Amino acid sequence: MRLLFVCLGNICRSPAAETIMRHKLRDAGLEATVAVDSAGTASYHCGELPDPRTRVSLQRRGYRDWSRARQVTPDDFRNFQHILAMDRQNLRELKRLCPDPAYWDKVRLIGDFVQTRKELEVPDPYYGSPDDFELVLDILEDACSSLIEMLQGGAPPPRREGG
Ligand code: 4NP
Repeated sequence: MRLLFVCLGNICRSPAAETIMRHKLRDAGLEATVAVDSAGTASYHCGELPDPRTRVSLQRRGYRDWSRARQVTPDDFRNFQHILAMDRQNLRELKRLCPDPAYWDKVRLIGDFVQTRKELEVPDPYYGSPDDFELVLDILEDACSSLIEMLQGGAPPPRREGG
């Protein structure tokens, strides 16, 4: 099983999702059966570490280990079973990048998995405040917990993005 988190630049939201999910998979004893990765729909930050503000927020919550930014590739649609977009703009871009409509079922909003909060999207924090980076992690921790439940045999939640 392979999960891919996708945002715009792959330096704020999706690398945070990858790091949080990897920690939760380890805690659940699932790290050997579920692989996680992240990517951006844009290429302008390729090769970079996560934004320093993301790293500070992650570290403050005890998360370590992150990957470098890369762009989504056509092969990603073949190789990953679940491709989770941080917002509707990313979802639209993924649809544009998707090489075959047969893969579209794999792609959905991560907001579908948000359980205890109201957000359907993870807002872009890039031009925001430190609080915006904390909000990103709050939403992602919630969604990753419900992803773990699905991987442990729960039913996937219904799509909420409206198409
Ligand atoms: P991300 O945030 O998509 O969560 O990685 C952004 C990173 C970079 C930019 C925008 C959003 N940018 O405009 O460079």
